[in-house]
Amino acid sequence: MSFSASPLPKPAGRRPVLLVAFHWITVLALVAAVTLVLGREAVDEKALRTLLLNLHKSFGLLLLGLGLARVVLRVALHPLPAVAELPALARFGAAATHGLLYLLLLAVPACGWLLASSLGKPAGFFGLFTLPSLVDIDEDLGDLASELHETGAYLLLALIGLHVAAALHHHFILKDQTLRSMLPGLHQRP
Ligand code: HEM
Ligand code: HEM
Repeated sequence: MSFSASPLPKPAGRRPVLLVAFHWITVLALVAAVTLVLGREAVDEKALRTLLLNLHKSFGLLLLGLGLARVVLRVALHPLPAVAELPALARFGAAATHGLLYLLLLAVPACGWLLASSLGKPAGFFGLFTLPSLVDIDEDLGDLASELHETGAYLLLALIGLHVAAALHHHFILKDQTLRSMLPGLHQRP
């Protein structure tokens, strides 16, 4: 058996591992946050409703932390190497969608935190710590934060639908490296 001393060539268009890890942890945390808060609608028992909302807030705050970390990482790594040759309009569309996704990933949980604060409710993180309240109790502000939180959340979900459709289009129609570049360890074409 022989071992080569030369390192394996880095696959073209590979995304930094932290960016890929944070991307997929974001997906899992978002599925959890949305499932918990929507599943709560089907529950009558008060203690269970409280637990589901607390878990929703915890995953939401995890998303806020991840969103901040991703923005910092993304700015630090700018510009990312292109993994596919795209016309200018498609490049603009992708950049605009990604920018809006980042914005909503920060704004939606921030509005959730504001909503909890304005209702005088805690914004706890898995029982480990509680974030300070952003404002004094204020019903009108609570209504506004609730509207913004809900509208932002559904806008985020709609954009994610578009984003996933674009990723699948790249993979199955354009047959380029875009999706592979975001898959952990599976990014090389055979
Ligand atoms: C990206 C992160 C988040 C998403 C996608 C999200 C999404 C949602 C959705 C879809 C709803 C249901 C809206 C409705 O139809 O009534 C909701 C409600 C709510 N969220 Fe979030 N949320 C996030 C983060 C947070 C955070 C960080 C907090 C607080 C720390 C929070 C607190 C709340 C509260 C208090 C409600 C109202 C629940 C109720 O009274 O029924 N959310 N959220
Ligand atoms: C919670 C759901 C998701 C969110 C919030 C999200 C968010 C993002 C963001 C902000 C980027 C830009 C990364 C950067 O360049 O800085 C990105 C890239 C990407 N995402 Fe997602 N994503 C989600 C789900 C998915 C899913 C389910 C897929 C696959 C089906 C996917 C495939 C990709 C691909 C392929 C890229 C790289 C695009 C490129 O380099 O041009 N994403 N995602």
